[in-house]
Amino acid sequence: MVPVVVVHGGAGTALTCEELCKLGVQEAALAGYHVLQQGGSALDAAEAAVIHLENNPIYNAGCGSALNELKDVEMDALIVDGRTLDCGAVAAVRRIANPITLSRLVMEKTNHVCLAGEGASKFAKAMGIKEVSEESLRTEYSIKMWEKTRHFNEGSDQSEESKSGTVGAVVLDSKGDLASATSTGGIVKKMVGRVGDTPMIGCGGFADNLVGAASATGHGEAIMKVTLSRLVIFHMEQGMSPSQAADTALEYMNTRVKGKGGIIVISKSGEWTAKCNTKRMAWATVKDGILHYGSQHGEHNTKPLANPSGHS
Ligand code: GLY
Repeated sequence: MVPVVVVHGGAGTALTCEELCKLGVQEAALAGYHVLQQGGSALDAAEAAVIHLENNPIYNAGCGSALNELKDVEMDALIVDGRTLDCGAVAAVRRIANPITLSRLVMEKTNHVCLAGEGASKFAKAMGIKEVSEESLRTEYSIKMWEKTRHFNEGSDQSEESKSGTVGAVVLDSKGDLASATSTGGIVKKMVGRVGDTPMIGCGGFADNLVGAASATGHGEAIMKVTLSRLVIFHMEQGMSPSQAADTALEYMNTRVKGKGGIIVISKSGEWTAKCNTKRMAWATVKDGILHYGSQHGEHNTKPLANPSGHS
């Protein structure tokens, strides 16, 4: 099987840091691909790509997460293993750098699927994950967005930018195994304890070796109502290509619940797509020694990899 890594850096409107967003997703896709070249699994690669994005302060995940109504960071993350449908999630977790790693530990070390809030923090501590300060997760940009955004409860006129974000990766490895990983700080000025689509299985992400893998971004309340990731996989089960399935599901989300967002998808045979119904979604893909990337609608750039085999 030809391995494929696809990542996204969140759907939204045009940002001042669009070029940086485009660069960051390329680096994350390459980080995931490097893990595959070193013999890592789809799960390892998806986690590595998302860690890369969580550690990059320009994205709404990990450091750089959107701030809630109290100006605190509460993060959600989900990882799904397409071999077994095993999944792990954390919701409204605080003071850790990489929620995606904690979600993988929930999957691998507990009998549960999702841990939230204080319970997630307690589990992180038990797993030896270092607690980080609130300050280290806030950025100048996240503070600026908090200051200019109306409260979550004050109606529906928030900008797309304040409603979106999220990072994610879907991976197919050479064994034919699929994985999906997604992480977010959620929505600016969300209520304390608000949990979005990201940690909900089939909403923020899904993976099934029999069909494909998906990772979603956008307005969580809308994504949850249509279970966006599972909807895309359902359309693929019915015979659609990833591209048709993504377009159909995003159109449905828009017409049915006025939902804005985006999704990255890989099929079990390695067909991939990155689609959104917002103005932009930074994405990048590595397949067959080529790096593909873009952000605006219809934008698709390609670059050959400097070292496609990974051997130095
Ligand atoms: N899609 C991220 C969120 O709404 O929380």
